Amino acid sequence: MRVILLGPPGSGKGTVGDIIEHVYGLPRIATGDLLRRAVQAQTPLGRRAAAFMGRGGLVPDDLVVALVRERLDAGDAQGGYVLDGFPRTIAQAHSLEALDPRQREVAIDIEADEATVVRRLETRRLCPRCTAVYNLRSRPPRRDDVCDDDEEKLIQRDDDRPDIVQKRLRVYHQQTEPLIGYYRAKGILHRVAGSGTVDETFAQIRLILDRVLAGTGKEQTAR
Ligand code: AP5
Ligand code: MG
Repeated sequence: MRVILLGPPGSGKGTVGDIIEHVYGLPRIATGDLLRRAVQAQTPLGRRAAAFMGRGGLVPDDLVVALVRERLDAGDAQGGYVLDGFPRTIAQAHSLEALDPRQREVAIDIEADEATVVRRLETRRLCPRCTAVYNLRSRPPRRDDVCDDDEEKLIQRDDDRPDIVQKRLRVYHQQTEPLIGYYRAKGILHRVAGSGTVDETFAQIRLILDRVLAGTGKEQTAR
């Protein structure tokens, strides 16, 4: 099974994607994480991607598709996976279908209003060493500003600056939101409310995935 997580920046794709990975044993493939790793390692792809990411725009489809192709070739993705942040354009959705046509697909759109996502991104912090994600309001570290696991000082993502967040939201509406209609037309779209707690969001997703796995998962809203 291929679970495709859709939703604006800050809607909780990474957070619930991690939970799905642990509960269902499906590896989470997050193009944002793969790209940030390539940027940090200063690979040729990372160097090209950095300029787009720093401005809050999308990295060109061919670069992202190449990263996903390489990741899907790893043995752990054969039995299914959770996609977080991919596809982000209709062209990427077509590439995905061509790359791995065998998987049964489920698309889950995590809906969250703009005020909520802006607040979450302002207060998101991450550990530069282990990449654990915190939130100063909803998931604070045990001690001020340091990672619970390795005591590294937490940082903010460069693209969580308020002006870049606004740009990312515009790009989401223009280029990624059309995927909601695309997956609705394929009959595999499910929508969940993402403005509540993490547990509330995951409970809706669990209902959907359990129904799909039981073979009764028609397109629906889990609310
Ligand atoms: P990416 O890293 O994918 O960023 P994004 O889609 O903008 O999403 P975020 O990671 O910001 O948010 P999220 O939904 O994962 O929320 P999270 O769970 O962290 O992409 C970054 C960049 O890479 C893009 O701008 C682009 O340049 C490039 N890129 C990536 N993929 C690409 C592609 N396919 N094509 C082209 N370019 C691509 O939660 C946010 C915060 O809120 C956290 O602090 C969390 O703890 C907290 N939180 C989460 N859920 C809740 C909740 N229910 N209640 C309270 N707090 C919550
Ligand atoms: Mg994320």
